[in-house]
Amino acid sequence: MARVLYFIIVIFVPFSVVAQQTNGSVPVGSSLTATDNAVPWISPSGDFAFGFQRIRGKDNYVLSIWYDKIPEKTIIWYPQGNSMVSRGSKVELLDGSGLVLTDPQGTRVWSSISVSNLAYGFMNDTGNFVLVGSDSHSIWESFDSFADTMLPTQVMARGGVINSKLSDTNFTGGRFQLRLLQDGNLVLNSRDIASGYTYKAYYISNTFDASNSTNSGDQLIFDATGILYILKRNGERSDLTPREALPSGDYYHRATLGFDGVFTQYYHPKNSDGNTSWSILWLEPENICQDIISDEGSGACGFNSVCSLNGARRPNCECPPGLSLIDSRDPYGDCKLNFTPSCEEEPTYRAEIDFVELTSIDWPQSDYVHMESTSVDECKDSCMNDCLCAVAIHDRNQCWKKKLPLSNGWTNESLNTKAFLKFQKGKITPRSPYVFPRSRNDRKTLITIGSSLLGSSVFINIVLIGVICLGFFLNHQKKGRSFNPADNVVQNNLIHFTYHELVQATNGFKDELGKGSFGIVYKGVMRTNTVAVKKLNRLAEDGDKEFKTEVNAIARTHHKNLVQLLGYCADGEQRLLVYEYMSNGTLASFLFGDERPSWEQRSHIALGIAKGLSYLHEECSTQIIHCDIKPQNVLLDDFYNAKISDFGLAKLLLTNQSRTSTGIRGTKGYVAPEWFRNTPVTTMVDVYSYGVLLLEIVSCRKSVKEFGTGDEYGEILTDLAWDCYQEGRLEVFVENDLEALDDYKKLRIFVMVGLWCIQENPSLRPTMKKVIPMLDGVIEVPEPPCPFPFSVTSG
Ligand SMILES: *[C@@H]1O[C@H](CO)[C@@H](O)[C@H](O)[C@H]1NC(C)=O
Ligand SMILES: *[C@@H]1O[C@H](CO)[C@@H](O)[C@H](O)[C@H]1NC(C)=O
Ligand SMILES: *[C@@H]1O[C@H](CO)[C@@H](O)[C@H](O)[C@H]1NC(C)=O
Ligand SMILES: *[C@@H]1O[C@H](CO)[C@@H](O)[C@H](O)[C@H]1NC(C)=O
Ligand SMILES: *[C@@H]1O[C@H](CO)[C@@H](O)[C@H](O)[C@H]1NC(C)=O
Ligand SMILES: *[C@@H]1O[C@H](CO)[C@@H](O)[C@H](O)[C@H]1NC(C)=O
Repeated sequence: MARVLYFIIVIFVPFSVVAQQTNGSVPVGSSLTATDNAVPWISPSGDFAFGFQRIRGKDNYVLSIWYDKIPEKTIIWYPQGNSMVSRGSKVELLDGSGLVLTDPQGTRVWSSISVSNLAYGFMNDTGNFVLVGSDSHSIWESFDSFADTMLPTQVMARGGVINSKLSDTNFTGGRFQLRLLQDGNLVLNSRDIASGYTYKAYYISNTFDASNSTNSGDQLIFDATGILYILKRNGERSDLTPREALPSGDYYHRATLGFDGVFTQYYHPKNSDGNTSWSILWLEPENICQDIISDEGSGACGFNSVCSLNGARRPNCECPPGLSLIDSRDPYGDCKLNFTPSCEEEPTYRAEIDFVELTSIDWPQSDYVHMESTSVDECKDSCMNDCLCAVAIHDRNQCWKKKLPLSNGWTNESLNTKAFLKFQKGKITPRSPYVFPRSRNDRKTLITIGSSLLGSSVFINIVLIGVICLGFFLNHQKKGRSFNPADNVVQNNLIHFTYHELVQATNGFKDELGKGSFGIVYKGVMRTNTVAVKKLNRLAEDGDKEFKTEVNAIARTHHKNLVQLLGYCADGEQRLLVYEYMSNGTLASFLFGDERPSWEQRSHIALGIAKGLSYLHEECSTQIIHCDIKPQNVLLDDFYNAKISDFGLAKLLLTNQSRTSTGIRGTKGYVAPEWFRNTPVTTMVDVYSYGVLLLEIVSCRKSVKEFGTGDEYGEILTDLAWDCYQEGRLEVFVENDLEALDDYKKLRIFVMVGLWCIQENPSLRPTMKKVIPMLDGVIEVPEPPCPFPFSVTSG
């Protein structure tokens, strides 16, 4: 009631900070330090910036140049070699030494060339950082040292090389290269990283003429209009960019060699803050899974891996069943067998080995025996009786036996092959036949959404909003809600959209961000802001007035840890809600992604969620119980602040919400035990779910393991947390996370708070209001009792 002040907050928060005025020049003696709030050196137009960017989920920074006006701040240049440094590193512009990068201990990590008579540095509007001498000539340019990207006005001479990054977040030179050879051909090839040995090219421009070398390529030029072409020695040009595809208008262009080996030209409208996507103009090769044909190297994916092309023509890599990644953080890397096929133990060999059948798959480069007129069974038997054979492939009466390591693996529905892959019985029992691609299916849709950003942007701007919306109001005062002045203020601030306006904003509901049981969320643009539009698909009988009342109640919540409702639409049958857009996706994808997020970020997020929940429980004029707290319902903003989404929705969508007997709301693994008993449901159900979530944040483990991961011990996270806590083995719980273990006191407090929150007896759980000072270490946290005194441990 007393929170009137919140209501007056303007709803559309400006998304981009106004860049400071600059003429692009950087005086000698200037320096920048790698921190989150350092102000970079900006080009006169503000298009490009030079400075440090933090790499997602880590305390690593990269010295780089990026597009500064677009939300994803795509990096286009970084120094080759050691470009990743820790917080507190410094870059200085010095006469004599040029640009010098030093780590926090003062050790020189990288420098441009030594220069004398340096007048100033200049961040040009082309994206080129130039060191200008006192004679006004350029002494050094970032354009002369290639990172993974070429920009308009940049030229590559014969002998020039672009190395890919190693991964999306590791800027060390990776496995792929674009080279303009001395003979005039432009090629893409993979390479051995350690020695630099180049494997056979998988793309060749054919701009070399052996009979008349004046027809051969001389330079690779990206012209100011956005056309990339090879200029030949005789002045002719061979265009790579299809002219007809070039968009007219004001666009940024870049050509980037992705860490996955695909060379892509992208464009992005200038002056459109909200439209965050880079679109693909063209790319090479068309099908990297099949186009890398070399008897050396592993192909597009690692050894023993299988490549499938996704909708954006980029590779997905997957280990076959029974094999696992050698480095679990590198999904594009090599896979290892869980056993070693051996010719020594012949007598017992056969009994221990079986085949898993894979369909539509091939490893074309690993054959050692080719048999004709062979049935499927003969093919299998031959491989089974051959201790050298790792996999047999059968296709139309032919059989190929293949040896380890398997290379260039790929899958495509049009292949009619059957593959029989050996595995050791007992250790695993893969489902057979096994159809690729499987485990990465979810990722596949994600990649399609963010396809144009893949391989280029450090911040993959994917949002999956509100998978299931099951919150509801515990609406004590509903009947008596009067039309007070505070309601009025909100009703004026909450924007009412027509359906037509939302069709326009979302481009006809084209860009889907996520799907839930109550509606689909689409990306949209309003004026210059990106928004998330949720189209509700099931409606209560409730009339228009009811809908508006509930929407206004949601809109009346204003807290920095809640996703803000901006507006709604109630046209005819259509009911839509418009929310602020969260650029960093869900907590689920952040926590359980490829990289373990830093402890600092995780603890910040845990505290943020507690604050948001405490607000819903204690500070709203109408108390709100969320009922479905889980990592999919927590979104992350540009600065990785946690924002709770999907509260107060079920009330809108389901009739007859009598609360006690309508069945369980929530998601397996996060549901408080009282839902199963005939006891009242209170805010304590959220405290319980928060406890589970907190333990997930601490350990980066999922509360419910997917079926068949084989990790029986860790199957129930809450049990594991209690066991580890009781036995004083928190290092097991956090999987030796050194950052967390360095902060042991806080780690222990977080686990203890988690255990208090998941007490089976709701009256033992702390309120969210109390959880905050507990996490902050302001009040003492007593030793928690065993959370499940009444439960029979589930087998
Ligand atoms: C840029 O502005 C600074 C002062 O703000 C001035 O000293 C410098 O000469 C200017 N540089 C150029 C290239 O105009
Ligand atoms: C900046 O780029 C423009 C356009 O390419 C060029 O004319 C100008 O000389 C560059 N400035 C410096 C200082 O290199
Ligand atoms: C990047 O990858 C290299 C090679 O695997 C590794 O040595 C390095 O530590 C990685 N850097 C970061 C910051 O992860
Ligand atoms: C090579 O090509 C150039 C231009 O296409 C032509 O002028 C020249 O006569 C050719 N030289 C020979 C030896 O064919
Ligand atoms: C975003 O930009 C792309 C490419 O410029 C364009 O096709 C699309 O219509 C834009 N979407 C919106 C919602 O403006
Ligand atoms: C499958 O192979 C066919 C024929 O080579 C090709 O045209 C198609 O693009 C491939 N599809 C995928 C998804 O790799």
